[in-house]
Amino acid sequence: MTKLSESEIARMHPETLALSYGFDPWLSEGAVKPPVFLTSTFAFKHAADGKKFFAWAHGEGAPPHRREMGLIYSRINNPNLEIFEDRVALWEGMKDACSFSSGMAAIATTLLATHHPGDEMIVCAPVYGGTDHLIHTFLRRLGIAAHFIPAGYEACELAAPLINQRTRSIYIESPANPNNRLTDVGRMKELAQGHAPAPAGQGAGRILVIVDNTMAGPVFAHPARVGADIVLYSATKFIGGHSDVVGGVALANDDALLSAIAQHRALLGGMPNPYTAWLLTRSLETLKIRAEQQQRTAERVAEFLSGHPKVRKVCYLGLLRPEDPDYPIYRKQHSGPGSLISFYLRGGEREAFAFLDSLKVVKLAVSLGSTESLAQHPASMTHSGLTSQDKALGGITDDLVRLSVGIEHVDDLIWDLRQALESA
Ligand SMILES: Cc1ncc(COP(=O)(O)O)c(C=O)c1O
Repeated sequence: MTKLSESEIARMHPETLALSYGFDPWLSEGAVKPPVFLTSTFAFKHAADGKKFFAWAHGEGAPPHRREMGLIYSRINNPNLEIFEDRVALWEGMKDACSFSSGMAAIATTLLATHHPGDEMIVCAPVYGGTDHLIHTFLRRLGIAAHFIPAGYEACELAAPLINQRTRSIYIESPANPNNRLTDVGRMKELAQGHAPAPAGQGAGRILVIVDNTMAGPVFAHPARVGADIVLYSATKFIGGHSDVVGGVALANDDALLSAIAQHRALLGGMPNPYTAWLLTRSLETLKIRAEQQQRTAERVAEFLSGHPKVRKVCYLGLLRPEDPDYPIYRKQHSGPGSLISFYLRGGEREAFAFLDSLKVVKLAVSLGSTESLAQHPASMTHSGLTSQDKALGGITDDLVRLSVGIEHVDDLIWDLRQALESA
């Protein structure tokens, strides 16, 4: 048992609780770290317990405390998943989380759990290529339509006239991948709340504000504090942080939403395996120090890039100035600019590829938020599946490079970027 009382826990910071919360060593031989619970199924003490646990899992009633649900089967719950979910929920200051085998599993399961045929989404573009494809093709096939509008300070004005009785969600990546544009989550929430839902059974129900916070990561932005109903993560990125695991998370405060997402996860089978959840739990311990170091280095790298003659424009939250229209959103939603930099080279694909091929320290690979720096070409890689219209909405042109800054020494990174720019 933890020696901390509930009120003492409430005063602690997530980086402290990330080392102990939700795991009782005395249930596991005194082990300081949680073991990996490699079991597919859990023994019930009595048949009546099995009956009760299944009823709770189906949403019939609820246990006195959410972690007294009772372990059933690792597609439904498992101690490693629960420890990770408890700790990631603490980072967000949200009621609970549902972990997944990938960010895409978290996004797809959440959208399937919350939307029905005939519903409409408003999507602030650009969004990650996989999400774009899911919405454009798979959800459309199920009769869920989407209006794409550009992310940024003007998104609320553009969203307002699109809202109708069929609107079920406003979907935002903030900052948007890859152009780092910011959308005002709080104003979107006001828009959603200002719209009276149709009588039961006739419309989509209340409008949900759904935010994929992967690009900012859980240290520098907390979308639920400014109005998001659901927060999504590719845990593959900052949460995992070492490019050695793929995972995802969906978080909410509303019990009905949490239960719908958990039930759809059990049906669709998108849960992580216990070892994945264990790795993600391990990585949460160093999340803050990694993210802060990456941010410090990114600020220097962005400054270097913005002064280089071969770079046309740098999109980095740390370079926003009070006169920039996204700046007030940055101040409201972020406590720091993070470590994702997108920049436009002078030239096109040829110059971008020559730059990427010349990098020696930074790895030419997709993904982001990891300890090593990664650079890629969104137009032909992560966002290659977007229609040319969606690419144009998101400013994804052939001269754009996305750089995720890692924990290498800043001087080595700047040396590498300089020599690669000179070769381009
Ligand atoms: C913003 C964003 N959301 C979701 C995803 C999908 O996550 P995963 O690759 O873990 O499925 C990605 C992947 O790059 C992403 O960048």
